[in-house]
Amino acid sequence: MKPSEKEVLQALRGVRDPELGMDIVSMGMIKDLTVKGGDVSFTLELTTPACPFNSQIEQMARSAVEGLPGVKSVNMRVTARVRQGRPALQGPLEIPGIKNVVAVASGKGGVGKTTVATNLAVALAETGAASGILDADIYGSSLTRFIRSYRFDVQKGGRITPAEGPFGLKMMSMGLLVPDDTPIIWRGPLVGGAIRQMLTEVDWGELDYLIVDLPPGTGDAPLTLAQTIPITGAVIVTTPQQASLDIAIKALRMFQRLGVEILGIVENMSFYVCPECGRKEYIFGRGGGLLSAERLDVPLLAEIPLLLQLRENSDNGTPIITSMPHSEAAETFRSLARRVAAALSVAAVRRGAK
Ligand SMILES: Nc1ncnc2c1ncn2[C@@H]1O[C@H](COP(=O)(O)OP(=O)(O)OP(=O)(O)O)[C@@H](O)[C@H]1O
Ligand SMILES: [Mg+2]
Repeated sequence: MKPSEKEVLQALRGVRDPELGMDIVSMGMIKDLTVKGGDVSFTLELTTPACPFNSQIEQMARSAVEGLPGVKSVNMRVTARVRQGRPALQGPLEIPGIKNVVAVASGKGGVGKTTVATNLAVALAETGAASGILDADIYGSSLTRFIRSYRFDVQKGGRITPAEGPFGLKMMSMGLLVPDDTPIIWRGPLVGGAIRQMLTEVDWGELDYLIVDLPPGTGDAPLTLAQTIPITGAVIVTTPQQASLDIAIKALRMFQRLGVEILGIVENMSFYVCPECGRKEYIFGRGGGLLSAERLDVPLLAEIPLLLQLRENSDNGTPIITSMPHSEAAETFRSLARRVAAALSVAAVRRGAK
């Protein structure tokens, strides 16, 4: 008895993506299926290299086919292709080749947006996803302090080549174009123009994820930017203090009003681990991020510890994933990246993205 293609697909329909609850055949994950005698061969195309359930889906798909009567061998190739996200606003700005733009925002300044944006971008790049980061904080540009670039040369007369960071991460910031000690005194409209240029005149190539570090606040500047950049989803950063949470909620509402999907909240400086005894101290109060997330019905994506090395990293340009790859903090950022990627996959698949 030899299985037919139809029977193989039927068996694979029994495998569901744990996150989406949809079966992997309907989601278009099965490609190039051939059945020759008892030899089954196919490609499993996952929705992102950063999915937390990838190995689980692989195992389930393999055993589903192996369990069919008459199957002699299973040749399963595994690839990942990030699906195209849909920006909330169909503005004049189109950046073909960039599938998902994730804005990292906060209400208050200094809560750790750049820390979260840079480490998230590095963690996504580490998974093998084509990733980039744009520093949209024109006045407080600090990206180049957080991640040292390995290579940067502005092309003459043509488009600008982004700088390159760890794991091939593409980076662009005003700080790369203007010397450190030159104050930028542009007015609002010029800022929008500069951002537009950094999106359209920089040669980003094909990107699965572009992380955008937004300036703080809920006023004019971030609002204009949020309307200029084709954002697929937003991550809101806050610290546990009530004052910070209140303003984070304002920022969140601003994005919701613009129709931008809120991917979740990140609570930064959540706790301090005593290096002597390992005890967690909740210096700024405990559970505020979680409570706000529950109240707003959005996920709490991560709780980042207050860590000396994170502060040091922001001054010496080595993100914690490269400087302390086995630390708990590095793991926390990897988990954040997986959750952000999964949330984007869910949003894209739900609306039937190809
Ligand atoms: N979890 C943390 N542990 C230790 N230091 C941190 C942590 N998060 C941020 N910092 C430090 O706090 C300072 C402010 O962080 P960061 O620059 O990321 O905030 P921001 O929200 O981007 O600020 P701004 O609004 O000025 O852009 C930096 O010196 C950074 O290194
Ligand atoms: Mg910043």
